[in-house]
Amino acid sequence: MSTRTPLVAGNWKLNGSRESVASLAKAIADGMAGKSCEVLVCPTFVHLADVQSVLAGSSVLLGAQNCSVEQEGAYTGEVSSPMIKAFGAQYVIVGHSERRAMYAETSDLVAQKAQAVQQAGMQPIVCVGETLEQREAGQLQAVLDEQLDAVVNLLGIGSMAQCVIAYEPVWAIGTGRSASSEQAQEVHAMIRQKLAVLDAGVAQQVRILYGGSVKPDNAQELFMQPDIDGGLIGGAALKAESFLGICAAAV
Ligand code: PGA
Repeated sequence: MSTRTPLVAGNWKLNGSRESVASLAKAIADGMAGKSCEVLVCPTFVHLADVQSVLAGSSVLLGAQNCSVEQEGAYTGEVSSPMIKAFGAQYVIVGHSERRAMYAETSDLVAQKAQAVQQAGMQPIVCVGETLEQREAGQLQAVLDEQLDAVVNLLGIGSMAQCVIAYEPVWAIGTGRSASSEQAQEVHAMIRQKLAVLDAGVAQQVRILYGGSVKPDNAQELFMQPDIDGGLIGGAALKAESFLGICAAAV
C-alpha cells in the first residue's frame, strides 16, 4: 500500500476576474471543509493575494503556475519564487506543456525553475509528457528521459522527494480525450521505475499526478491506479462542482 497522500491541483491558467476567482476559491474551500484530501489551487500571479485571503483558515492550499529562475534584479515582467512564497504559496507548477510549447521553455530552464522553487521553500510540480507525434513515433521513453533527467540531475535524486511530477500527455490536455487509466498507469510506473533505479525510497515517496482531460466521471478510475497519486486539473478546475467531484474521487 502506498503511503503517499493524494494531491488534486487546479491549474486555473489565464482565466477569471478578481471577483470570479475569489468566489471559485470560496466555493472550493467550503466544499473541502472537513475533507482529508490535499487540494491545491493555482491562480494567476495577480490573483494570489485575493485567493490567499479567501483560503485563510481552510485546508485548501495555494500555488502558482510559473516562476522566474531569478531571485531579483533587472528582469522586467518576471516574478520570483520568494515573491510567490510571500503569499503563502506552497507549490509552483513548472514546465507545463503550454509554457514549453508557447514560451520555448527548455528542460534545462524548467529544471532551474524547479530548483528556484525548492530554494524558496516550496515544492515544484514538474510537468512532463509527450505529444501525439512523439508517442506515435515510439519516442515516449526518450521524451520523458530528456524532461526528467534535466530535473533529477540538477536537483539531485534526494531532493526529488520534495518534488511532485505531473504526467500530462500533450494530446490529452484540453482535448476531452484523457489517457485511459491503463495508458496513464503504464507511464506513471515507467517514471517511478526510472527514479527507483537511482533511489528506491525516493521513488516510493514521489507523488506523480496525472493531467489531461480529468473530469468527475473518469477521475476515480485514474486515481485508483497504483502509481497515480492525484491529478492536475485544467478545464474542470474552473467550476467548483466539477473540481470538488474530482477531489472526492481522490479520497
Ligand atoms: P485539462 O488541462 O484538464 O483542461 O485537460 C490540464 C492541464 O493543462 O494541466
